[in-house]
Amino acid sequence: MVAAPQINVQKAETSKLQSFSFENLPFGKYFTDHMLEADYEDGEWKNIEIKPYQPLLLDPSTAAIHYGQAIFEGIKAYKDNEGNAFIFRPIDNYKRFNISAERLRMPPVPEEVFMEGMRLLVQIDKNWIPNQDDHSLYIRPFMFSTEATLGVKPSDSYKFMIILSPTGPYYSKPMRIYVEEKFSRAAPGGIGFAKAAGNYASSLLPAAEAHKLGYDQVLWTDAVEHKYVQEIGTMNVFFIIGNKAYTPELTSGTILAGVTRDSAITILKEMGFEIIEDRISIDDVIKAHKAGELREVFGTGTAATISPIKELRYKDYVMEFDVSKWIVSPELKRNLNDIRNSKVADRFGWMFRV
Ligand code: COI
Repeated sequence: MVAAPQINVQKAETSKLQSFSFENLPFGKYFTDHMLEADYEDGEWKNIEIKPYQPLLLDPSTAAIHYGQAIFEGIKAYKDNEGNAFIFRPIDNYKRFNISAERLRMPPVPEEVFMEGMRLLVQIDKNWIPNQDDHSLYIRPFMFSTEATLGVKPSDSYKFMIILSPTGPYYSKPMRIYVEEKFSRAAPGGIGFAKAAGNYASSLLPAAEAHKLGYDQVLWTDAVEHKYVQEIGTMNVFFIIGNKAYTPELTSGTILAGVTRDSAITILKEMGFEIIEDRISIDDVIKAHKAGELREVFGTGTAATISPIKELRYKDYVMEFDVSKWIVSPELKRNLNDIRNSKVADRFGWMFRV
């Protein structure tokens, strides 16, 4: 048992909830009444505070702004019928957060600061957890370097923060995906496995070019041969071929180890699928499509949950799907949502009671 950290709580005088509408909630646009903030200085974490949500005041030379030493996580909280709040698999995100921190040469955040800080913050703002289907309270822990210097070096100070956003679905309809073979997201030895801010910055231009062609996102291929698929935009990718579920393996260090990816693997196994985690070439995907064996393609992610792909284009070859006939990914999504919304027993021990 880790000791509870000293967290100072300063409550907001009034809540924004009174004038807040939960109708038509976009992803990540609105924030709750409070946030958590902690500082790393002189080799230790201090000033751990929950306080009213407010802007930050930063020196223009703050290192993170210039050199991108910044990481984050995405986690979701739900409510059961009695109004009890639960967070989905937060310890897995905590572990991944510190893996990202190590790769970006940042200090680890202690488990008690991350977990107890998040638990207390969600408890305080629990009335912000939406009730509607496909909605949740999105939890965004993040850390960035705060030293005021233009020197390229690990910062000697950092801020760890958590903000909360009541949120609707990230992708509201099935997506059209363009298989990317010019730009790369991640190369072996790089930071593809880390949830680093820079990974998302570098995805914006390729995504914008795909938009111009009428596509919602890109499916990344490997940086060396542009032959093996990696992940889609903000999601891991799965292919249902026959009665097997294929997803790219993680050992190359170029793919984010998604918590939803891992949950999907667990549930698909329970549904009777054999899971193949391997290098998957786009040629093999096309071969399966031509043979009529490619049944479903979908993305998995915390924000995106389980998102169907209705079109996949590689060069001039277009794979189109009638997602209304799919059965595997809708059942996977239902099974996952039933656990998250406490409609069935938490048989995998994924729900963390706030
Ligand atoms: C998440 O699923 O939490 C993500 O990281 C996606 C986010 C960048 C929108």
